[in-house]
Amino acid sequence: MDSILVRGGQPLNGEIPIAGAKNACLTLMPATLLSEEPLTLTNAPRLSDIATMSELLRSLGAEATAMQDGKVLALSSHNLSSQHADYDIVRKMRASILVLGPLLARFGQAEVSLPGGCAIGARPVDLHLKALEAMGAKLDLRDGYVHATAPQGLRGAQFRFAFASVGATENALMAATLAKGTTVLENAAREPEIVDLARCLRAMGAQIDGEGTSTITIEGVDRLGGATHRVVTDRIELGTYMLAPAITGGEVECLGGSMELVGAFAEKLHDAGIEISETKRGLKVARKNGRVNAVDVATEPFPGFPTDLQAQMMALLCTADGTSVLEEKIFENRFMHAPELMRMGADIDVSGGTATVTGVERLKGAPVMATDLRASVSLILAGLAAEGETVVSRVYHLDRGYEHVETKLSACGAQIERIAA
Ligand code: UD1
Repeated sequence: MDSILVRGGQPLNGEIPIAGAKNACLTLMPATLLSEEPLTLTNAPRLSDIATMSELLRSLGAEATAMQDGKVLALSSHNLSSQHADYDIVRKMRASILVLGPLLARFGQAEVSLPGGCAIGARPVDLHLKALEAMGAKLDLRDGYVHATAPQGLRGAQFRFAFASVGATENALMAATLAKGTTVLENAAREPEIVDLARCLRAMGAQIDGEGTSTITIEGVDRLGGATHRVVTDRIELGTYMLAPAITGGEVECLGGSMELVGAFAEKLHDAGIEISETKRGLKVARKNGRVNAVDVATEPFPGFPTDLQAQMMALLCTADGTSVLEEKIFENRFMHAPELMRMGADIDVSGGTATVTGVERLKGAPVMATDLRASVSLILAGLAAEGETVVSRVYHLDRGYEHVETKLSACGAQIERIAA
């Protein structure tokens, strides 16, 4: 398995292009299952999770072709041969559950393997299932699969999510586009990826109102057509690279970034003493002098501070002048990076969902292990600021969510390289 070697201590200066959003692309791709006509996605990120979703779609008989070096995905579901999403693929990636709503809505039946838990928490799919049941789906959970049917098709319903789940909102939204009548989703998630999905579905002919607010109204239509859609910028990749000059010092322009994607996160960076300005091409981030200030952070659904930036923010706060309290309110087990950061000299005390981080003057390079996607990049950020060498092993997690991380960072002066296993 590959590792990443980082020699810390270089300030970063330059520009970093930000890719299309992994999490948007992973929900836009299954939208192809709703229509016989082609769906073309541009600005797609080149990531292993995207390859896994392509593999899943192909296993259903869809066409999924990566073009222009992977930046364009040509999808078509005119000739589906199966409504069975097999465990062998689903187990690789939880987002696979997003094929359930579209398959059920178009074909009146689907069998999708339950994705199971993952390192950062149990992550059940009960909210996905309840929303589809409210639309008339009959569900039977057996042999590790959801067997779903809707012989007369799905029908519009009023449904309130007990928690504003991103994936459950996406599944319900896609299913409702082909349901008979009106669906009202209350306490829906408001993430930019959901707004992006709604825009794409609307381009395919869906009637949707209210995306980006907590109430989304969908008027079902008989059929959806094709579309070409540009995937929204990845706000998590953006936030991660905004943290790079924050932790090392220097100035980096994140191309394609905008404040509306990272509001709550940017506010915390600002409180930490980081300068952020909007430019014509994106966001410029600079740390000019001294240590960063300690800040308290609590993760929340959008528009709050994203859980997917918590690990990276922790890396920054490990070097802050003072004590910060980080509260993780979305996932129950998302501090696995803390013991790894402590191997680098960080002072962190984890108790339940709260981590208390007392900044140290300088982290020290060490061999560390990536435990999940965002944890792996937080260790790279820490390595960039640390004295000496850091080797991050098990970086296959990283390749699920960050394209060309070494190239992007070394273009700004970082000393970072991949060591092939
Ligand atoms: C999506 C993102 C992930 C991000 C998360 C929260 C994708 C592919 N992934 O994941 O990167 O960290 O949003 O912003 O878009 N829950 C239930 N029952 C359900 C569904 C969720 O209890 O049926 C719980 C989960 O266990 C978790 C919380 O709700 O504790 C948030 O999950 P959710 O918003 O659904 O996240 P995902 O869509 O899985």
